[in-house]
Amino acid sequence: MLLKNIGELVGIVPQGVLRKQGSEMNETGILHDAWLRIAPDGTIAGFGSTGALYPDDDKDEEVIDAEGGMVMPGFCDSHTHIVYAGSREGEFIDKINGLSYEQIAARGGGILNSADLLNATPEDELYHQSMERVQEMMAAGTTSIEIKSGYGLCPEGELKMLRVIRRISESVPALIRSTFLGAHAVGRGYTHEAYVQEILDMMPRAAEYADFVDVFCDTGFFSPEDTDRILEAGARYGLRPKIHANELGVSGGVQVGVAHGALSVDHLEQTTNAEIEALKGSGTMPTMLPGSSFFLGIPFGRAKEFISTGLGLALASDYNPGSSPMGDMRFVMALACIKMRLTPVQALNAVTLNSAYAMGLSDQTGSITPGKRADLILTRPGWTLTRIPYTYRTPWIRSVFKKGRS
Ligand code: NIG
Ligand code: FE
Repeated sequence: MLLKNIGELVGIVPQGVLRKQGSEMNETGILHDAWLRIAPDGTIAGFGSTGALYPDDDKDEEVIDAEGGMVMPGFCDSHTHIVYAGSREGEFIDKINGLSYEQIAARGGGILNSADLLNATPEDELYHQSMERVQEMMAAGTTSIEIKSGYGLCPEGELKMLRVIRRISESVPALIRSTFLGAHAVGRGYTHEAYVQEILDMMPRAAEYADFVDVFCDTGFFSPEDTDRILEAGARYGLRPKIHANELGVSGGVQVGVAHGALSVDHLEQTTNAEIEALKGSGTMPTMLPGSSFFLGIPFGRAKEFISTGLGLALASDYNPGSSPMGDMRFVMALACIKMRLTPVQALNAVTLNSAYAMGLSDQTGSITPGKRADLILTRPGWTLTRIPYTYRTPWIRSVFKKGRS
């Protein structure tokens, strides 16, 4: 398939570049008046400037006229909790009336409320409710998604979630990665210690389904010591960590995550220089979730400082019923530009290549690179990168290609 008359081809990255850090965040390859060819296996076969080098005509090839639209990599959303049942609308009212996230959780709401709903919902129904969100995200341009467990909080519920994630991954063209987040909150009826032991006991069965292990290492949830034990058990079954840290306090979770070779440490609304130092020189991608900062009214984090000290940054939606009921990565880009003062190019790198890295997928997707999956967004005519976060509600997508298919 040939895409011709592309106005701007954005997000071109040389082969072998798996993430961007520091000043590299300010760069992205852009070609004007371009073409792009998709191979029969759904990967990017090549691209170029229309004037300089037009591809050979292939009579059997499907040709799509982009009509001057922009083509960019599909969004990679490296942190979501989209397998959940029902909603938490009642807590939305509590929040409007002044209760904080922690106060709602302390009253038995929050994650435990979602766990009750999930455990009462048949697996098939859970799959269908979750698939609606996957469809919504794909229509909004997302082509790879990490999905966490963590609303079961008992062996039966957690495995149900992991099976649903697997079923989603087998039924959609987007790339899906699965994370075991048994340590999201202490399950009902357990003491803290008994539940940590239960998580350790669940690990071998969870590892049959999950790619990664996650812990909510934060004030009132799990300690760095709990996290250390859980990550060690995960490593025995080949699960690499992705960590929730520093959302509600300075938790020590960043340091534990880095020590265990975490692929990413996420949230980071509250960070000191010690966390920045711990991340430097590591393979761990700092990931921020501006949708939850926006929804909860908490700080947006020190993204610009991270970048100026040489760190990379990924951004994800955190789509979940309690702190970010939204999976639109274009709005994540807009929040990054408006609230975190990232440039559109920095935001693009954070929602594509770096968020692919945070799922261990940046060798397969997240940029315009020959050989990678043709996971692409084709915009309406005349769009530019800057206009995406700037006019953040204007319809902009013409089609979304997942592995070359729209
Ligand atoms: O990433 N912080 C922990 N987990 C989610 C919220 C989950 C929930 O409230 O249901 C988050 O914000
Ligand atoms: Fe989360």
